[in-house]
Amino acid sequence: MPDSHERLTSSGAPPTVGFQNLVAASPSAFAACFRCDLENRSGPNQPVPTAGRSVDLFEKCYRFEELHQVQATGLYPYFRAIAASDATEVTIQGKRLVMVGSNNYLGLTNHPEVIEAAVHAARKYGSGCTGSRFLNGTLELHEELERRLAQFLRRPACLAFSTGFQACLGVLSAIAGKDDLIFCDRDNHASIIDGTRLSFAKTIKYHHNDMADLEEKLSLAPEDKGKLIVADGVFSMLGDIVKLPKMSELAKRFGARVLLDDAHAFGVLGAHGRGTAEHFGLERETDLVMGTFSKSLASIGGFAAGEFDVIQWLKHKSRSLIFSASLPPASTAGVIAALDIIEREPQRRTALWRNAEKMRRGLQSLGFDTGLSETPVVPVVLGDREFTFRFWRALFDRGVFTNPVCSPAVPAGCDLLRTSYMATHTDAQLDFVLEQFAAVLREMGPTPRSRSGGAAIAATR
Ligand SMILES: Cc1ncc(COP(=O)(O)O)c(C=O)c1O
Repeated sequence: MPDSHERLTSSGAPPTVGFQNLVAASPSAFAACFRCDLENRSGPNQPVPTAGRSVDLFEKCYRFEELHQVQATGLYPYFRAIAASDATEVTIQGKRLVMVGSNNYLGLTNHPEVIEAAVHAARKYGSGCTGSRFLNGTLELHEELERRLAQFLRRPACLAFSTGFQACLGVLSAIAGKDDLIFCDRDNHASIIDGTRLSFAKTIKYHHNDMADLEEKLSLAPEDKGKLIVADGVFSMLGDIVKLPKMSELAKRFGARVLLDDAHAFGVLGAHGRGTAEHFGLERETDLVMGTFSKSLASIGGFAAGEFDVIQWLKHKSRSLIFSASLPPASTAGVIAALDIIEREPQRRTALWRNAEKMRRGLQSLGFDTGLSETPVVPVVLGDREFTFRFWRALFDRGVFTNPVCSPAVPAGCDLLRTSYMATHTDAQLDFVLEQFAAVLREMGPTPRSRSGGAAIAATR
């Protein structure tokens, strides 16, 4: 059996290669890449059972060639360890970078009040709850947070989870059962997709934000089935907003409930930051809202907010809540402090939108394709994986941190750099980012996307 430890340590460290060498790196390294979507669990990376021969389950790990090939080019972009951060700028291996890859939309992670609240709570309650909400892990602080969130969102009740991912898993698996139907946007976040899988309901995927397709699929569904429509409020990779007005009308017509995941909309959309439903004036029509504390709320955790009886049900049926330890005191108190600031400083949202608009327009005027973006999530669609990784590395070397997102997370040929903006980015930082995008474009030539005449990403959905 190969020595996996030796193999990984000998090839695992990213080699230090200059940009010129990177450009010359073999394209074949990019022909395939790591497919971590669940659909591929039985895909090509799995050992093929051979009659009469025992199969080692770890074989695929030892033969993770795609990873080793990309690491060998020096273009491996993931798991970059940050040594220091003041939110808009980070230090990585002694190098300072402007961060345009974070979901810290309102720039609250380093706010003194948020930090002080977290420190105070850790002193008062300790470092963790060492138990689930259901048993020994409910603090008065959790209940205060739930009351505050319910009040803010104008919903009768709210339930806090330990992560947004767990909120999606817990809500979907508890609310829809084997006799129900879930209508799910095909570009919904992975946590929603996994939640639908845990629910045992039949899941019907509709084309991205395509209300005509949703209507057709609803019209074919039996009347006597419980129906749930679930979508991101703001789509996490593409930065577009769900078409809630039409979705609400369809839900009413076909007797379906609407569940929005407002992970990227909370604090961002709506006059008060209440999210997608507030943005459209459709709060009553949206039955249930989920969200996360890991973006505008500057911490970790998640929530579901809705009718009292529904939240009571979730509280007693969500396995990801009941069988997992509760949100740590420091995080809980940090979220309450962030909520205070969101309520009293609407100017943060104004600054966020100003920065997002500046960057969307700036990137477009340089000739980049920003896809469907209409929010502070601004993807830069580049084309193929190899070009995208090289572009990412060139920006990184020039002091700009972006996130490469590749197929199958986005359609083939639409690999992109996801950029996202904060209320606290300065004009100087944003101008610097635009200058670096322009310089790399000059060095690398037109993007495969623009060479192919790249119709908007929408055409591929
Ligand atoms: C739309 C959406 N839902 C849920 C989550 C999961 O949230 P968390 O990071 O709190 O687990 C994310 C995180 O990126 C997200 O983008």
